[in-house]
Amino acid sequence: MTRTIRNWTTWAALAAALTLLPAAEAKEKTLYDRLGGKKAITAVVDEFVGRVAADTRINHYFAAAAADPKRLASFKMKLVDQICQASGGPCKYAGKDMKSAHLGMGVTGADFNALVEDLVGALDKFKVGEKEKGDLLGALGPMKTDIVEK
Ligand code: HEM
Repeated sequence: MTRTIRNWTTWAALAAALTLLPAAEAKEKTLYDRLGGKKAITAVVDEFVGRVAADTRINHYFAAAAADPKRLASFKMKLVDQICQASGGPCKYAGKDMKSAHLGMGVTGADFNALVEDLVGALDKFKVGEKEKGDLLGALGPMKTDIVEK
């Protein structure tokens, strides 16, 4: 009799553990956490914007922002918030949607790829893991259709 009760207890514990499994999976770290949070994202954005500013393939687009420290700071902040939000962090991106933000700039596919190369360079500099890099690019990639015009 005692043995039966023990068995039932075991089954009940097993069943409880199984129902808990999905909850445990859901608690997996967000990409935001895996990237290292807002401080790490800010460091990557600083490096990224520096690389874009030095990239003669695309820096002409950013001439006005680069020439105005306030505008540059605001642009960087928006990028940080956008990446923070897109990676599951606590920020709220309050900038324009990607279509309105890039409307009429005539950004090409080659421009987009150059910018992604600069981002990858920044992520590599900070030794961001392959998985995190892939996940972040996967989150930004779908924006391409709203940004590229020709
Ligand atoms: C996934 C790729 C990209 C993301 C996530 C992105 C994100 C952003 C964001 C958040 C803003 C600020 C919008 C606002 O002011 O409310 C912005 C502005 C801008 N973007 Fe992009 N962008 C991307 C690709 C590109 C590319 C490929 C180019 C050109 C090569 C470009 C050129 C610009 C320029 C010139 C501005 C205005 C900056 C200023 O003068 O303030 N972007 N972008």
